[in-house]
Amino acid sequence: MSNLKTILSGKISCKSIWFMRQAGRYLPEFKKIRSSNSDFIKLCLNSNLSSEITLQPIKRFNLDSAIIFSDILMVPYALGQEVKFIKNHGPRLNNFDIKYLKNTKEKFSKNLAPVYKAIDITRKNLDKKKSLISFIGAPWTLLVYMLNIKDVEGKINLSLLNNKNFKVNDVILELVNYLCIHIKNQINAGADVVQIFDSWAGLIPHNEIEKFCYLPNAKIVEFCKKEKISNICFPKGIKDKYKKFNEFVKPDGINIDPEIDPKWAKEKLKNVVLQGGLDPKILLKTEDEIIKAATKYIQTFKDIPYVFNLGHGILPQTDPVKVETLIKFYRNFDG
Ligand code: CP3
Repeated sequence: MSNLKTILSGKISCKSIWFMRQAGRYLPEFKKIRSSNSDFIKLCLNSNLSSEITLQPIKRFNLDSAIIFSDILMVPYALGQEVKFIKNHGPRLNNFDIKYLKNTKEKFSKNLAPVYKAIDITRKNLDKKKSLISFIGAPWTLLVYMLNIKDVEGKINLSLLNNKNFKVNDVILELVNYLCIHIKNQINAGADVVQIFDSWAGLIPHNEIEKFCYLPNAKIVEFCKKEKISNICFPKGIKDKYKKFNEFVKPDGINIDPEIDPKWAKEKLKNVVLQGGLDPKILLKTEDEIIKAATKYIQTFKDIPYVFNLGHGILPQTDPVKVETLIKFYRNFDG
């Protein structure tokens, strides 16, 4: 069994390190490929290049897990919604239409076939001891993009969820179905873990958190458990609601964000394997500051199963040398 999967099973505790967004814009070898591939979606659909990009950080840093190079927005793409990545503006999707959720399973899976092929190629080229992580965006985080409910200042317009053409609950339930298909297809292709990104969970109003975050994540985790698929949730930004989330959703693993105090997490988040936490902004600081901040996490979690990672993705302006420093420090730590 691969390293990460074994830790998530709760059976053993060993060192394991990977980073969210480890394959990406901070790596010169990625930027080189990206500069001659201007259409991001097309790049994600190029199985050979996606696999090559996935393996770039493994070759450079010998990390314990690879995460497939793709995007959470490949799901709306596969449903038929147009997705564009505008330089310095991020993703832009055309207007949502309920007909996207009437797509057949076969067509949806066919549209994503290049992602599954990339997983297959990567698995064949990846050391057996290393995990290959697949991922999805949780329904709420996908809705933020699909319904375009976040304005430039990061505020959400909840009224856009109430549309005469659809009920938001139905949309969420339909999305859960497609997301479970996408998880199963990725696992069948050779991935051994799934991470569920709810990157915008922190924007959900207090009284709606169960409906938009706990319930949809719980349904997906329930599916994973039924299918024996190792899973990690990441409900970013929900502060002390991490405790309720963990009790409600019961994932195998949970990634904490930089706002969560590691000691609090150790005390309050039970029956789950903890992952991450370190602020990715720390990697923009000096070596001493990086080591001091990382020590807090490693020291706190040294006697429980813990997967080293960040509290969000590596920032594009990060120097890969700093990433290397952090990995070396973690590997050599025996305090
Ligand atoms: O290395 C990895 O982690 C695997 C690849 C990966 C990407 N996106 C590639 C990517 C993963 C896991 C994602 C997940 C993703 N995508 C999330 C959840 C994680 C998070 O960071 O919160 C979200 C919200 C998205 C949506 C998305 N995709 C945005 C907002 C953007 C533009 C801004 C940004 O963060 O880069 C993307 C584009 C994207 N996805 C890039 C990469 C490498 C940059 C593309 C480029 O311009 O070169």
